[in-house]
Amino acid sequence: MSELITVSDDLTFALANRHFAYVFRVSPEGILEHLHYGGPLGEPLEVQAHHRRTIRHVASTFQGGKHYSLSDTPQEYPGFGTSDYRFPAVHGRNADGNTVFSLHYHSHKILDDKPTLKGLPSSRGGQGKGRSQTLIITLQDKLHQLRVRLHYTIWEDHGVIARSVRFKNLSDKEIQLQHAFSTALDLPSGDYEIQHFHGTWAREFNAERIPVPQGRFVADSARGTSSTAHHNYLAVLQKGATEEFGRCYGTTLVYSGNFAISVERGEFEDVRVLAGINPFNFHWRLKPGKSFTTPEALHAYSGAGLRGLSAHWHDFIREHITPVRFKDAPRPTYLNTWEAAYFDVDEAKVLDLADTAKDIGVDMLVLDDGWFEGRGDDTSSLGDWRADRERFPSGIPDLAAKVRAKGLKFGIWFEPEMVNPRSQLFTDHPDWILHVPGRVSSLGRNQLTLDLSRPDVQDYLFEQIAAVLSCGDVDYVKWDMNRNMTEVGSAALPASRQRETSHRYMLGLYSLLDRLTTAYPDVLFENCASGGNRFDLGMLSYMPQGWISDMCDPIGRLAIISGASHLYPLDVTAAYIGPSPNHQNGRISSVRTRFLAGVFCAARGVSLSEADIDAHRDEIAALMDFAKTTASDMIGGRFERISTGGNEIAWQYTTEDEQCVYLAYFHILSAPNQPFRRARLVGLDPDARYTLDDRWDDIIGATVDTTVDRGTGGEPETYRGDALMHSGLAMPQVAVGEKSPGVRYMPDGDFAAHLFVLRRQPS
Ligand code: DGJ
Repeated sequence: MSELITVSDDLTFALANRHFAYVFRVSPEGILEHLHYGGPLGEPLEVQAHHRRTIRHVASTFQGGKHYSLSDTPQEYPGFGTSDYRFPAVHGRNADGNTVFSLHYHSHKILDDKPTLKGLPSSRGGQGKGRSQTLIITLQDKLHQLRVRLHYTIWEDHGVIARSVRFKNLSDKEIQLQHAFSTALDLPSGDYEIQHFHGTWAREFNAERIPVPQGRFVADSARGTSSTAHHNYLAVLQKGATEEFGRCYGTTLVYSGNFAISVERGEFEDVRVLAGINPFNFHWRLKPGKSFTTPEALHAYSGAGLRGLSAHWHDFIREHITPVRFKDAPRPTYLNTWEAAYFDVDEAKVLDLADTAKDIGVDMLVLDDGWFEGRGDDTSSLGDWRADRERFPSGIPDLAAKVRAKGLKFGIWFEPEMVNPRSQLFTDHPDWILHVPGRVSSLGRNQLTLDLSRPDVQDYLFEQIAAVLSCGDVDYVKWDMNRNMTEVGSAALPASRQRETSHRYMLGLYSLLDRLTTAYPDVLFENCASGGNRFDLGMLSYMPQGWISDMCDPIGRLAIISGASHLYPLDVTAAYIGPSPNHQNGRISSVRTRFLAGVFCAARGVSLSEADIDAHRDEIAALMDFAKTTASDMIGGRFERISTGGNEIAWQYTTEDEQCVYLAYFHILSAPNQPFRRARLVGLDPDARYTLDDRWDDIIGATVDTTVDRGTGGEPETYRGDALMHSGLAMPQVAVGEKSPGVRYMPDGDFAAHLFVLRRQPS
């Protein structure tokens, strides 16, 4: 068994597997110099450095050395104030006011497997596809007596490297940390672009590509969530990289709070990526003998374009991030009460909806917002997690049992981190909210944020939620969170620690989630934050799926799914058929297109009123039957973006056993005389034959008569894998009115969608 991590006698370190190599060394001065991150190398310890020791005019030389400046030296974890003028990975000050940080190699060790991070979610080591090894490099700032441990983990079969940092104050005086990034990555000079994702409510995950500018580009959040505004994922791409071509470096964090991922192009054209807790408004007092652990950062590398990069992320997230208990579990189909009734829910209505759920054949009824004491709209009651006595006289456990007795699963909504000023909880504990004395607390959706850094608040929430879950009839919890944080301060912390509140909030949230998911391991938790406002690997470490967006209009959702799929496998996402006209943008679309926009999400369902369901009952029932019979297909397979530009979108999904290939094709605005389009599929067995299964057409109504002979003499259409990949599959034509025999057509009009199902023939 070959080692994943090797070290030479002169302290060059190589972390290498068949996907990539990552190499650095210790310079004679004790600086960790980065040498290579990219394609795999047969002999990684032999790699040549990109940088040289030269005299640079104007550059300062490092601590008296003649030809050595840190300003053009790629480093593993750059300090501050010793000849490197780029943004540092660590900064702060000691008790004397000294703000220079100079970190030197002290020692290293290699572990089989991977230690967990104290109080923080992190990727699992040593399981799934192959083992992992961890390299721990100890650096020291001798003057500050600060010990800095850099953790690097790689896995045998993943194109991902995990990094985190642990600081320990070995002195007898306090050290204050202001920057404590989780990772630094110095790439050699070259032409690069940045791909990052931005948005807002119901418009999440918009991809933007920009050249790496001279100076710094920062995607960050100071909102207390990982946020829709700038997602906590960023990729540095070889200029011009496409889905199939180019070197791509992705970076994300296993963290859900304030973050920053920056890309800096230095004066010598080198590129530095830093990722970690946002240094803005962060400050940590490190008392003598105390430690501080950063969140985990992850990097992935692909030499084969964006599709290759996504494939690494998807495999890794599934194997090493999401809870093992649900990793391979097909997700229940469901009917959610939100768009069916909004806040107007009561026991009779929920039981009627449960009958409807049963009738259309879904697995689960989800009671969304509105069930707790006094909650008639969004102005009150968050925090008072007792069933409203008038509308649910026999309580939630009884309702859950009744729903279960109908042969359904039961799910329920909470927004635990929030409180309305109009609530018993706020009346009893006004100091339990995040707030700053002397400042009026700003509201978001009429609500305030509870101070989860406080153990008493965590205990209260655990008890309230446990009181519902302990009945044993709850199968699913939707964990919502509907505002960004303001006036962030904690009554439980001294003045000198107020800037620790945001991070302590996250530690408190993770601790609560850990307790709940440990106590109720079989409850399926879904992460939601007004859609995707806190969709990240931190939350996915506890909750196997997330509500990616409140945008239920299919056309709005297409871009969101395409964007999110750069990082996330779709088996961590949920989607349902919402109303038409859509409640976010008013668009009218068919039930079929609404379903197909989420067809590759693991958790699929319906959120429609009884009247809306009645209008399309048979079609919805057929779609839910399709969702149910394909639920296991949508776990563990490969999602690929075949085309995502302009008016047409094509997505491919290949099941884990590679026996079935789905291709969803969307034509947004109809137009006459369209070109003949083909979709080139990817990753098929070139020698296998695939049969086009028209079962889908049977289910939802054929767009053309499937009995029409498309030139196959009545035989099923079959295609070789190589032909599907290299020549492609003809996409349906757009036409209104008369249609030619033997041609596959899209449904008439705008916002049309089609699904191909290809089954691999036995060899
Ligand atoms: C926001 C969520 O994204 C919606 O799905 C719904 O649960 C509402 N909150 C309920 O208030």
